Amino acid sequence: MEKPDHWSADRYETNARFVSDLGAGVFDWLAPKAGERILDLGCGDGALTEKLIAAGAEVVGTDFSADMIAGAKSRGIDAHLMDGHALNFDNEFNAVFSNAALHWMTRPDDVINGVARALKPGGRFVAEFGGHGNVAAIRIALAGIIERRFDIVDAPGNIWYFPSCAEHRRRLERAGFAVDRIALVPRPTPIPSDMAGWLETLAAPVLGIVPEASRASVRDEAAALLRPALCDSDGNWTADYIRIRFEAHLV
Ligand code: BEZ
Repeated sequence: MEKPDHWSADRYETNARFVSDLGAGVFDWLAPKAGERILDLGCGDGALTEKLIAAGAEVVGTDFSADMIAGAKSRGIDAHLMDGHALNFDNEFNAVFSNAALHWMTRPDDVINGVARALKPGGRFVAEFGGHGNVAAIRIALAGIIERRFDIVDAPGNIWYFPSCAEHRRRLERAGFAVDRIALVPRPTPIPSDMAGWLETLAAPVLGIVPEASRASVRDEAAALLRPALCDSDGNWTADYIRIRFEAHLV
């Protein structure tokens, strides 16, 4: 199973809309063609899926959050609630696309094998997600606070999968893919709200490790610790994102 569903479409709209807005680079790598059948893995509320459809592709979306699937369906998208570790498709897509979702799937070999099964021979797998070193400052702040206050070591633990290019390439090749290009892309990312909003939305599973009554104070302590590094003198926050982006095809 993936993690419990911490997602709320409203909270996502306020604190994390930038995630789909920043998907343009990986969309260009995919270069969807009219008539292609494409799976959008981790489609969220479908903001980027709509662009695939606008390019003339026939698109199916999957996500593990019922709230997000409801949002995608309200846009008219053929969206299915499905665990990315257990994709239920066989030899039917020209491409599998994913933006900002694979870092939530912490058994990457199960995901990659499912993608390989879903693709037709020669099909492409094009995706972007958090790579090695992603949100390092935020992770360290959370880990330090949670260890000191609750004696829980390595708090984000395996909540996120942020691989290096070498690690992810190995996994893809083992599953029968040839990797056409893969890169780590540092991308300091302005946060539209503030660090507390970011933590509540995107680090909800990490905050979920601590007792409910303490979550707000952990969030606020982390934000205070991060302020000198990630907030400028005008009060604008920037998250220390590093993306991994790749294009591979089934051999
Ligand atoms: C990311 O998109 O890089 C990200 C999302 C959630 C938590 C951490 C990082």
